[in-house]
Amino acid sequence: MNLKVGVIGSGAMGSGIAQVAATAGHNVTLYDNNAAALVKAKEKLTAILLRLEEKGKIPAASEVLERITFAEQLEAFADCGLVIEAIVERLDIKKTVFADTERIVSDTCILATNTSSLSVTSIAAACNNPSRVMGLHFFNPAPLMALVEVVPAIQTNPALIPVATELMKSWGKTPVTAKDTPGFIVNRVARPFYGEAIRIYEEGIADIATIDHAMTTVGGFKMGPFTLTDYIGHDVNYVVTDTVFQSFFYDPRYKPSFSQKRLLEAGWLGRKAGKGFYDYTEGAPKPQPNTDPAKATEIVERIVAMLINEAADALLLGVASVADLETAMTKGVNYRKGLLAWADEWGVQKCIDILDNLYNQYHEDRYRVSVQLRKQAMENKKFV
Ligand SMILES: NC(=O)c1ccc[n+]([C@@H]2O[C@H](COP(=O)([O-])OP(=O)(O)OC[C@H]3O[C@@H](n4cnc5c(N)ncnc54)[C@H](O)[C@@H]3O)[C@@H](O)[C@H]2O)c1
Repeated sequence: MNLKVGVIGSGAMGSGIAQVAATAGHNVTLYDNNAAALVKAKEKLTAILLRLEEKGKIPAASEVLERITFAEQLEAFADCGLVIEAIVERLDIKKTVFADTERIVSDTCILATNTSSLSVTSIAAACNNPSRVMGLHFFNPAPLMALVEVVPAIQTNPALIPVATELMKSWGKTPVTAKDTPGFIVNRVARPFYGEAIRIYEEGIADIATIDHAMTTVGGFKMGPFTLTDYIGHDVNYVVTDTVFQSFFYDPRYKPSFSQKRLLEAGWLGRKAGKGFYDYTEGAPKPQPNTDPAKATEIVERIVAMLINEAADALLLGVASVADLETAMTKGVNYRKGLLAWADEWGVQKCIDILDNLYNQYHEDRYRVSVQLRKQAMENKKFV
């Protein structure tokens, strides 16, 4: 494989992406403007690759490591065919880095951003040739998560989409194409998993243990919303929610919650802080769920109907195809089935009824039914 890959930012995502590219056979240059971060990345990558070799997952860690060079200067990207940026999530800094990188690389080099929540179009606009810029959104941890959202900016040369898609497949990834809209696919469609669960909790309909229990048993999700947000960290999860909310011009469907904001303000960031929705200190009592099956069904139906509505709306607005929406939610957040297949299984009318009931109770725009669902019901059509 002769395409040399540059990665900007050697943090959690950048070092993971470098590992994936080098394992796929590319020579990789990993750059960071913080020398200590580079040293840490080298140590981390060495340890991970040696462990993979021990487990027989890769033939030789040294071969993969030899393909990675660690650079403190952007100039090292001069002969790269692809550069993926994974630095701090700040538009102004990303724009500067893209403009600087473009001055160094060749005219044919593709420039990609791993941004989770910023507009790819806006990052591309920092370049003289924005048609070479796109989003390549990996999930954390990049070596383990199969999904990559390929996100063309409005300026991106369309011919680059199949090029990036094939390249990601050659890295063992499962690429999907998403429109450059807030949250792309996963971070948009998954919002109600957290938001509606917190809403149910805030209203006192059920406590956190009961909601988590309902979602993992009746819902079949790997983790309940409160366990998962504690795991992700409220700093990360709240910021994504808030960014998506603002980027959607304050659409109430994406409204963040005070419960989560307060956790953030208290520094109760979840598992890593020893406290979040749950208390992880030793000996702390574990809240016990109410295991009433009717309660569990009520909770799951409300949250899943909201998720299906979100997926249907993303389809309506051309964010992604049915197939890509389904792949994104099963590979990006490990849902046990795609949300549109779930709608087919339930029957679209059931989702509409749940949401219309909520809307009739609350009169909040948050519960409006996507026209896509109403159309499917009227035409008696299935999604998948
Ligand atoms: N962590 C996740 O779960 C996740 C998932 C998908 C996408 N992302 C996105 O990936 C990007 C990186 O996230 P992360 O979690 O790896 O962050 P991180 O904080 O772990 O790493 C960022 C790295 O970028 C470096 N950096 C900052 N400014 C720089 C600059 N101007 N030039 C060069 N290096 C610079 C920092 O020194 C640091 O090593 C962000 O855009 C984030 O939104 C994160």
